[in-house]
Amino acid sequence: TNVLWSGDQQSMPPEVMAFLAGEDVRLDRALFVYDIQGTRAHLIGLAEIGIISDAELNQFKQALEDLQQVYASGEFVLDQRFEDGHSAIEFFLTEQLGALGKKAHTGRSRNDQVLTCLRLFMQDQLDELSDQVSGVIEQLFSMAEANQNTLMPGYTHLQRAMPNTVAVWLLGLAESLLDDLEHLNGLKKLLNSSPLGTAAGFGVPLPLARETSAAAMGFARVQINPVSTQNSRGKYELMVLHGLSYLLTDVRRFAWDLSLYMTSEFDFVGLQSSHTTGSSIMPNKNNPDVVELMRASVAVVDGAVAQVQSLLSLPGGYQRDLQLSKEPLIKGMQATREVIGLLPGLLGAVVFKKDHMRTAISPEMMATDQALHKVGQGQSFREAYLDSKQDHELVITPEDSIKSRVSLGGAANLGLELMKSRLEKLTA
Ligand code: ARG
Repeated sequence: TNVLWSGDQQSMPPEVMAFLAGEDVRLDRALFVYDIQGTRAHLIGLAEIGIISDAELNQFKQALEDLQQVYASGEFVLDQRFEDGHSAIEFFLTEQLGALGKKAHTGRSRNDQVLTCLRLFMQDQLDELSDQVSGVIEQLFSMAEANQNTLMPGYTHLQRAMPNTVAVWLLGLAESLLDDLEHLNGLKKLLNSSPLGTAAGFGVPLPLARETSAAAMGFARVQINPVSTQNSRGKYELMVLHGLSYLLTDVRRFAWDLSLYMTSEFDFVGLQSSHTTGSSIMPNKNNPDVVELMRASVAVVDGAVAQVQSLLSLPGGYQRDLQLSKEPLIKGMQATREVIGLLPGLLGAVVFKKDHMRTAISPEMMATDQALHKVGQGQSFREAYLDSKQDHELVITPEDSIKSRVSLGGAANLGLELMKSRLEKLTA
């Protein structure tokens, strides 16, 4: 293994070396392009303060571009030859540029380097995730529009409660996803600051052009204090994972409803064969495995949250423990991206069994409407409530009841216009 720090590598047994590296090099594959981007930004800063010349900077830029290309083509493989991605970049630069390559690490530490590439990774992932989530929200909007008049029973305690519509059920998920999107936006704002230049956690005795480097990576600002910057390692990951957990908690609830409504006992929805599986023994089965795995995915993210939370029981400053926050972040992010990426296809495969849903609205579900009708005729609510408990005289149809509910955000549009304008603001 090529390491950057040892004078006497011979003395380290391979199993100790392997323990130090762990899964790190493999995980760094997800971060490598960001590490290249961060290195480029660092070198732009070094040129500004005269540590390297403009001509040298251009040589570096060219070599980094080459690295990006051979990495993308698979010609350059990031593997156990290197301790981590950071070392691999420096070895490549030194191999390509000779003595000049040895200047690349001037004034930086792997500590601010890893913070930087993780930050860029999280930003990109959250941008892409937000796009995916907005797409799902828009799809729910149009599904709701098409099902404004599709009635279904509403439940509390899984007992029949009041009539509802498929549109209101779907928009329930849509508005929850809008909340998640707003929360992710808040995280993106927090992540939009550059750790680069804080080095090992104490700054360096060089007039580093931190703002220039930050701008070269597209960051809005720099993280100011080096101790706080170092201590944000893992904590920002935890916040992101929490955001993913909220999102998947909403998906889990919806998936639960779907799997329940798919049972023969409910029989409200069907799922096209593109999204169901069979049984190896029971020829009759049509199973919602996709829905169930979507429901389960929050467990992966919550496990990641627990792992990072447990890791962070640390004193201030860099500790190697922090390396183990990489895997839960990447894994939690991948699980979330996969589930949200599959949602549009799943939603498209859902078939609403409108007749079954409508006939499942039994007369006693109109009792609340009946009581409120009596209130309109001058009775007190409590008296009307007691009267309506026993005899169900159908004073209003479920269809009319739905139309008259102002709490749906304006009966005519189900609050759709309000939600659409919120989505527009969140994605602006
Ligand atoms: N792989 C390390 C990590 O993720 C990189 C930083 C190493 N820094 C150090 N001081 N040993 O934390």
